[in-house]
Amino acid sequence: MTGSANSGAEEWIELLASTVDRHQQGQKYRVIATALEEEIRSGRMKRGDRLPTVRDLSENLKISATTASAAYRVLAQRGLITTKVGSGTRVAFNQASRRAHAQSSTPERSTAPWRRRTQKTHIYRLQTAFPEAANYASGTPNPSLLPLSVLKRAWRAAIGGLTENQLRYSGPAPVSELARVLVSRLESDLIPARATDMVIGSSAQQLLTLALNAVSELSQKSRLLVAVEEPGYPTIFDTYERLEHRLIGVQVDDEGVRPESLENALAAGADAVLVTPRAHNPTGVSWSTSRLKEIAEVVATHPGIVVIEDDQFAGAMRPPLGSLLSDPRIEDMVIYIRSFSKAIAPDLRLAVAVTRPRLRDLLMEGKFFADGWSSNLSQMALANALSDPALDPELDQAFRFYARQRQELTEAILSKTPAGLPIRISPSTGGVNVWVQLPQNAAATEVAERAAASGILVATGEPFFVRVGRDDAVRLNAGMVPAGQAEQVGHSLASAIVEATNSASDLFLQHNL
Ligand SMILES: Cc1ncc(COP(=O)(O)O)c(C=O)c1O
Repeated sequence: MTGSANSGAEEWIELLASTVDRHQQGQKYRVIATALEEEIRSGRMKRGDRLPTVRDLSENLKISATTASAAYRVLAQRGLITTKVGSGTRVAFNQASRRAHAQSSTPERSTAPWRRRTQKTHIYRLQTAFPEAANYASGTPNPSLLPLSVLKRAWRAAIGGLTENQLRYSGPAPVSELARVLVSRLESDLIPARATDMVIGSSAQQLLTLALNAVSELSQKSRLLVAVEEPGYPTIFDTYERLEHRLIGVQVDDEGVRPESLENALAAGADAVLVTPRAHNPTGVSWSTSRLKEIAEVVATHPGIVVIEDDQFAGAMRPPLGSLLSDPRIEDMVIYIRSFSKAIAPDLRLAVAVTRPRLRDLLMEGKFFADGWSSNLSQMALANALSDPALDPELDQAFRFYARQRQELTEAILSKTPAGLPIRISPSTGGVNVWVQLPQNAAATEVAERAAASGILVATGEPFFVRVGRDDAVRLNAGMVPAGQAEQVGHSLASAIVEATNSASDLFLQHNL
């Protein structure tokens, strides 16, 4: 060891030298990064402390320079160290800033989009370390299953029929061609909609935000308490918190939102509730018909609230389910939102809200002050696509593919995990995702890292919850797994889970010997 690094680092290097030796080549950088992270987070190494150069580190630990720099890269990505020309590599993290961060990230106080950041840094880190790994961490539809030829026809026809009138400033109501086809499509999905009930948004994301603005207007409260499914959709959690609303979690079981848990959240004062009736993200569960009724019963006893239904996978979902809008007792309290991103194409940037006049007027006003309207040309293209007879067979094909992939993956994971290992996979009925609840001592971050090392990137579960700290689930996009590979991918994930569980037990034993 050269005299350039501080004494904390020297002690750490000595301790580490014996441990690193026992690990396989591909794992060494992780062992080093984890040990050093522990030194820094515990405060034993302080902000500004100097670390050995990559060359010194590799010589002292008898590892390659690539391994040493990979370890430093991981730490730099986690914001724990920085390297500057002239002053070398130093600790960048201090305990005080960590405490401040921990306080500000409680949902009551935070406006920081920590979930999206966590998702991004997690993927970036793993992609950098394992550039060959296939990315199954997103919740996006498989582009090869989007109805490309239908869309090309739809856009060609829309452009062919473009009029000067369509180019003018406009308003939030749907163009009449779109309203017509939507009414009939929604009806066949058992969702009672009139053309006058609709507001067109530029995405479900936009309408979900406008819906909450409408609740603020109605209740005359700028900061709302919003009941959200847990686990649930991280992006909208972040968005709502950034708008300074607070979130309260509602549990989800195999049939969707649990009525008792919903009742508790509403009794605690929630002003609005956001629910996903079908293809829930991340679990993939859908409401049963009886659950729809039970939820309606709970909602009916809280007449002051608003329910936002996020039908995000509509189009590629079977069978029809209906909506709380069908219940005359509560229809005035419901905003039903349908995204076209997952079934038709994310790039359409169109979604529709269906709601009765009281809330519709507020939504119209919100859209008017947001961006006025969503492109008439895109609306015409969507109307054409939805009227194309070739669309439904393509949507059916996507639905069947996703269902097969989810099932094959689930079976593959379960078949490779020992019977005594309590993992749970939600019985998904729609969407692209498989949500795996891990055994108690297998950390999701470790499972994701081991899965990445074996070639697959999965999302860790923490961002799907209201509060930080959950490390017990991972989500995998089965819809992106190529046909014929579900079994192999499932086995890789199962091995990662088993290895992570075993390594946790090894650590436990080492500490307790
Ligand atoms: C549950 C859920 N709701 C809404 C959306 C967003 O839909 P859009 O693309 O229409 O904004 C997503 C996107 O992933 C989602 O997962």
